[in-house]
Amino acid sequence: MAIFHDLLVKTVQIMPINLVWLFSKKYIAGKTLQSAVNLVKQINAKGILATLDVLGESVKTREEAIEAKNKAMEVLDAIVKNKLNANLSIKPTQMGLAIDKELAYKQILELVKKASQINNFVRIDMEDSPYTDLTFEVYKKIYEEYNNVGVVLQAYLKRTFNDTILLNKLGTNYRLCKGIYIEPSTIAYKDKQAIRDNYLKCLELMLKNGNYVGIATHDKYLIDKSYELIKSLNVPRDMFEFQMLLGVREDLRDKINKDGYKIRIYVPYGEDWYKYSIRRLQENPNIAGHIVKEFFAMH
Ligand code: FDA
Repeated sequence: MAIFHDLLVKTVQIMPINLVWLFSKKYIAGKTLQSAVNLVKQINAKGILATLDVLGESVKTREEAIEAKNKAMEVLDAIVKNKLNANLSIKPTQMGLAIDKELAYKQILELVKKASQINNFVRIDMEDSPYTDLTFEVYKKIYEEYNNVGVVLQAYLKRTFNDTILLNKLGTNYRLCKGIYIEPSTIAYKDKQAIRDNYLKCLELMLKNGNYVGIATHDKYLIDKSYELIKSLNVPRDMFEFQMLLGVREDLRDKINKDGYKIRIYVPYGEDWYKYSIRRLQENPNIAGHIVKEFFAMH
């Protein structure tokens, strides 16, 4: 499986950049903010919500971090200007978390403050495990001042159920996902069903405690089980939403929308699309598989 994965990743890496774009563009709104705005308008017209993400990796300098924050500020302006039904997702390391925790705190605070002024919301994505505690620290400090901010929990991490217990007490607004980074088995479940079981265990506790949850998955099994859980716990419809990535399982997305549940699409855009695509391909053999499959299907 590991050899197959490596082969897939290598195949994608030697593809010409234009070809990678051809397949990546399904998962990315475009290179400009305007392309993202246009796409969000289209999905909003179907009654589907969005969360906008300016693509970018962990930044190396304060200047890059400030530039990334400025671009995120522009997203908030565009949401208002275009009356989009959307919020903002950001990566803590893009805001400078790997350089200086205080810098990331100040930058995210600025974004959350602006979002609060326009009645909007900022979701702090969760990255790999060296940043888990730091991300929670920054989140908690900001949450002391503003409540229009939420975090992401990753069901593959063994610590997550315990984090759920602690963060529920604050009234946290969650996104719950499986987790996309490669983590050691000492801290992360590797077995597919074990991850699903932990996902459902955490989701149940979040919902039981009255926390708002973004149920972020394309896994039909998890979606079906979430439906069951929502019904059995009689969870009000304004206490959860489903979330999916742009371009993935649109059939399921439309079904959830038709079933009358709130659904939000994660819409990444920006110049940094190549690094993002390759990184995602390396992290998730499923995506590499899809791309290589489509590539060969074309010939
Ligand atoms: P799984 O990987 O099992 O996929 C289920 C099915 O979906 C597959 O069998 C396939 O049919 C389909 N599928 C998946 N990927 C596809 C693709 N590229 N093309 C076509 N079909 C595909 N992770 C993280 O660590 N931190 C974060 O902050 C976030 N944020 C986030 C936001 C949102 C809105 C989503 C939906 C996901 C994330 N993730 C994330 C990623 C998440 O952790 C996880 O890696 C992916 O969602 C894949 O897991 P699934 O639950 O979809 O199951």
